[in-house]
Amino acid sequence: MPRLAVIGHPVAHSRSPAMQNAALAALGLGEEWDYEAIDVAPEGFEARVRAMPAEGFAGANVTVPHKLAALALADTASEMAREIGAANTLIFGPSGILAHNTDAGGLIAALPAQPQGQRALVLGAGGAARAAVWALGAAGAGVDIWNRTPARAETVRVEVTERAQDLQVKIEVGTIGVEAREDPAAALDQSGYGLVVNTTAVGLRGEDPFVHLPLRRDGFRPGQVVVDMVYGDSPSSLLNAAAAAGAATVDGIEVLVQQGALSFQLWTDREPPLDVMRVAAYSLGDR
Ligand code: ATR
Repeated sequence: MPRLAVIGHPVAHSRSPAMQNAALAALGLGEEWDYEAIDVAPEGFEARVRAMPAEGFAGANVTVPHKLAALALADTASEMAREIGAANTLIFGPSGILAHNTDAGGLIAALPAQPQGQRALVLGAGGAARAAVWALGAAGAGVDIWNRTPARAETVRVEVTERAQDLQVKIEVGTIGVEAREDPAAALDQSGYGLVVNTTAVGLRGEDPFVHLPLRRDGFRPGQVVVDMVYGDSPSSLLNAAAAAGAATVDGIEVLVQQGALSFQLWTDREPPLDVMRVAAYSLGDR
């Protein structure tokens, strides 16, 4: 029986097992395939992954904090995984471990329209930000990165630019240096961006995005697309404000569903049942 898993630390809260098992069942693969959650600390990650092919695993999703290590241990990697410098999907095949990154494609697939020619603002400078910058930049958007700690935004900019040069990919990326303050006048004017993507942890513990991020509460407009990677059981206050202003909104669960669908296709070579995956992902509490 081919086994699949999501490997993370912690991982108990992950919606991927419910979502992927629902997809397997919907396609009649539920008897044959199985998708589980594996919690392993960073020091045990590589040994755990290397043992998986012999245990019947066909592939795995990799989540925080293992995405860099997953790319490092792979025998071959897709271009997007190499560009981003991280992998969220592994395939165990006859020629070894193959690393992919479906976070980028998942974000693009979740958008209501192609980002080509748009100006995009990416908030944050962690792993999720890096994938978003690559995804949007490679899709032809001009990307500005803002981060609470500006030096980290600059690091992402430099790394992305250098890697793009090495790989001969054209990417337009800059940084925005504004301090997030409660004073709305101090915020940047987000209406100039066709796309705003929050990859920071702001909102995860109920923080007010309009205090912790350099955005104006009344700064969204119709025609914009606003993505909040943070998800909980109800729409985030960032997305509520965007929707109230007539902007299109995309939540983190939709991005999760789309990246999961791309991973599913890589492992099974079957068309992923998106609606089934979406229902399973949304119907699960995050705690
Ligand atoms: P991930 O890899 O999941 O993106 P991460 O590397 O921990 O996670 O990054 C979290 C992001 O959220 C960072 O950009 C962090 O900003 P700093 O680099 O300044 O730490 C951002 N973040 C977390 N809490 C924040 C807050 N209260 N206000 C603003 N940004 C915050």
